[in-house]
Amino acid sequence: MNATPTPILVVDDEADLRSLLVEAFQDSGHEAVSAASGAQALELVKARHFPVVFTDLNMPGMSGLELIKELHAVDPRSFPILMTGFATTEAAIEALKRGAYDFITKPFKFAEIEASLGRALSHYQALRENEAYQQDLEARVEARTKETVKLKDDIERLFEGFVDASVAAIEARDPTTSGHSHRVALLTVGLAEAVNTTEGGAWGTFRLSERQMRELRYASLLHDFGKVGVREQVLVKAKKLDEPRVEVLLQRLHQRGLELEVEALLQAWREGRPFDSTILEGMKADSRAEALRLIALVQQSNEPSVLPKEAAEELVHLDGMDFQHWSGHRKPLVDPHDLAALRIPKGSLTDEERREVESHVTHTFRFLEKIPWTDELGGVPAIAYAHHERLNGRGYPRKLTSDAIPAQSKMMAISDVFDALAASDRPYKVAVPVGKALDILNEEAKAGLMDPDLFRIFVEAKVYERTTQK
Ligand SMILES: [Fe+2]
Ligand SMILES: [Fe+2]
Repeated sequence: MNATPTPILVVDDEADLRSLLVEAFQDSGHEAVSAASGAQALELVKARHFPVVFTDLNMPGMSGLELIKELHAVDPRSFPILMTGFATTEAAIEALKRGAYDFITKPFKFAEIEASLGRALSHYQALRENEAYQQDLEARVEARTKETVKLKDDIERLFEGFVDASVAAIEARDPTTSGHSHRVALLTVGLAEAVNTTEGGAWGTFRLSERQMRELRYASLLHDFGKVGVREQVLVKAKKLDEPRVEVLLQRLHQRGLELEVEALLQAWREGRPFDSTILEGMKADSRAEALRLIALVQQSNEPSVLPKEAAEELVHLDGMDFQHWSGHRKPLVDPHDLAALRIPKGSLTDEERREVESHVTHTFRFLEKIPWTDELGGVPAIAYAHHERLNGRGYPRKLTSDAIPAQSKMMAISDVFDALAASDRPYKVAVPVGKALDILNEEAKAGLMDPDLFRIFVEAKVYERTTQK
């Protein structure tokens, strides 16, 4: 017996039969409610749920079949059972077709009613259990989905934090290029977005998905990470020779002037010439002027700007000069290594140092390759690896040509060079005005270094304003 009685509705226009059934149901432990017509039954059904409704077929007003139809609309979970004294097979089939759960012929024994009720209730129970199971399943799936989404968000946040920390690490080693990685990411993604909306032309059908945009952003943020593998004195080198080195050299040049004066004095003495202060002062002035000229030459040559031809030729003369070392030996005034540095035609790096700086690309690739990227972001190492390659094969480190360079790397190359030129935070370089930076890039595109169509999009879509507009 149910702990809470199942409410059963009995619908019949015959009052005797109604009360008989209600009593019988109540005796067998159910809660039974009765209605004298279809309309009355519907009112009750609207107010509460009856798992089983017994209804007479022929009633004045609404018939049993009509009631079943209405009942389905109001409470589809209710099981109607039809009772009739005019039973034919056709009527039974019709009733079942119209949604009656069972069909009972009058006169009946209460046992028949009970049997039918039992079947209906166990069917009803099974359906409810199934429903509850479904609901529980749905709730669990929803909870798991929420968990998974949260986990994914957590991982993404974690990774974003890791990328930020990595960028901070690169820029801590080379504070003068601070912000470069983020700006290159802004520009490269900006260029890719502009390409995505380009119709016609070489890039008219090229599209990057949202996933590829994320991949490109990470590749851009981490493109210079390999700089952590480059010695700091090379990475931040602003001039060809550092302060103490230049100081030693200038002091030796000064000393050389004094040595020449002493030598001239000794020579005059050896020849027995009389002391003449005018000649002495003139000689001192000459050697001083010569020393100052050489000092100025070294200072000028030490600057990373383009070395003038005359200065380069003058530097050759330093090669044969020597000075009196404190040990008593004469030694070369300029070490061959320092002289080679001073003769660098442009910039501040020797060939060896330049190669070391260039190795940052390979360091970046090796570092990125170690990260177990998801399938979604698997292209990050390859994109970053090609950011210094140039279409005509004049880039580094692999000297790839256009076909072998990922499209994303071609975009990054433009952004990278633009930022290197236009950023105002390089030590040895005043920021190049935007127009001038674009001119230089235009020349590079014409020379076959950069993709000319991508460069055109970069200019036309004003992608550069993403980092240059305050
Ligand atoms: Fe780089
Ligand atoms: Fe860069």
